[in-house]
Amino acid sequence: MTLTKLLQSQGFGTRRECRELVLSGRVMVAGEVVTDAETEVAPEALKFSVNGQDWLYRVNAYVMLNKPAGYECSQKPKHYPSVLSLLPVQLRNRGLQTVGRLDEDTTGLLLLTDDGQFLHVYTSPKKNIAKVYRATVKHPLTDAQLTALCAGVVLHDDPEPVIAQSAIARDAHTLELTLTGGKYHQVKRMVAAVGNRVEALHRERMGEFGLPAALAPGEWCYVEPTSAS
Ligand code: URA
Repeated sequence: MTLTKLLQSQGFGTRRECRELVLSGRVMVAGEVVTDAETEVAPEALKFSVNGQDWLYRVNAYVMLNKPAGYECSQKPKHYPSVLSLLPVQLRNRGLQTVGRLDEDTTGLLLLTDDGQFLHVYTSPKKNIAKVYRATVKHPLTDAQLTALCAGVVLHDDPEPVIAQSAIARDAHTLELTLTGGKYHQVKRMVAAVGNRVEALHRERMGEFGLPAALAPGEWCYVEPTSAS
């Protein structure tokens, strides 16, 4: 692969822009400035730098974001900025998509990727990917509510009951809810259906990925899915 093509695949702009980056001496490979845009490079695990910033070649990008409140999971947001605005332009250029969605006011773990297969697996209801939410609820949780969430509740627009994999009261107002489905506003609607109300919602885990305590709201990091994903 030529260096220009590699840069283009990693989101550094159009072919012309990537060529220009190389010709102007802003790209280094293995610690050396390369100014021939047609230089052949082996992309696998290639480390390179652009304008002094280090990058690693990635066939696909998998990103975990600690989503803050006040951002929409949409390419074309209506009322708030897009979560994509929290990522560097190189990642935005790669066409990352959110793996499912969180509401504007929901915080926590959000995955983004440009790997269509991964996206499909992680969003398919058939794959039963577990998502763990922490919901702060208005009224003290009751055993009846926890039991009902796991037995299945019927939502307004859907006759099929939706079932939580588990519902645990961490304290009187903190519900840990594990779901495998991903219906619109599912947590808020399920909690409302058992007579309570979500006042704050945070996702802690999705499949094999847990939100690291060190990842502050608005921060992101690369993740590597296991081959089983
Ligand atoms: N369920 C909700 O109600 N909102 C979210 O953002 C995610 C799951």
